[in-house]
Amino acid sequence: MKRIGVLISGRGTNLQALIDAQQQDRLGAEIAVVISNKSKAYGLERARTANISTEIVTKKTHPVREEHDKRVVEILKQYNVDIVVLAGYMRLITEHLIKPFENKIINIHPSLLPAFPGIDAQQQALDYGVKITGCTTHVVTIEMDAGPIILQEYVPIFDTDTRDTLAERILEKEHEILVETVQLLSEGKIHIQGRRTKINGE
Ligand code: GRF
Repeated sequence: MKRIGVLISGRGTNLQALIDAQQQDRLGAEIAVVISNKSKAYGLERARTANISTEIVTKKTHPVREEHDKRVVEILKQYNVDIVVLAGYMRLITEHLIKPFENKIINIHPSLLPAFPGIDAQQQALDYGVKITGCTTHVVTIEMDAGPIILQEYVPIFDTDTRDTLAERILEKEHEILVETVQLLSEGKIHIQGRRTKINGE
């Protein structure tokens, strides 16, 4: 069974979706460790409750970005991690993390990429006035929110939506496609061909 390392920065509802799937034997993988760059991230509590090992690597303990990522890699190797999931990890990552886990790091982003990369994609979508947004899972490359797309799900925007009501509806879909992406990846069903990914059985 593949071993997953989950990187978080905050409340960790995406992490919780992975934990729930694991507990219901739907993940097809085991969460080996949760690493947070924020010592007070609520996601750490979720991991502890599920008896999953946690580690903290912060800007304070590792002020130099490269050293930070090297430490994260050290931990991931220590836990024999095969696949890394960025689940609300609000930190830019460097080659030092990407190289050792090339094509094995995935991210969940709350928009239909390549629209609205970066911070607060939900507000960006509202400000732009699009009628449909959604979420994307993708392979992580050095360029932010720009790696090959794995899965996407759409979410309509209603006239009455605020940033928070929209974010909440997108989040439900995030949880679904993140779990599905980890399942597919664990089963070796995702093949990367340039910018495109091919999923077995499609
Ligand atoms: C999600 O919307 C994720 O797509 C974004 O940050 C949020 C994290 O939420 N990058 P959570 O910590 O998983 O609840």
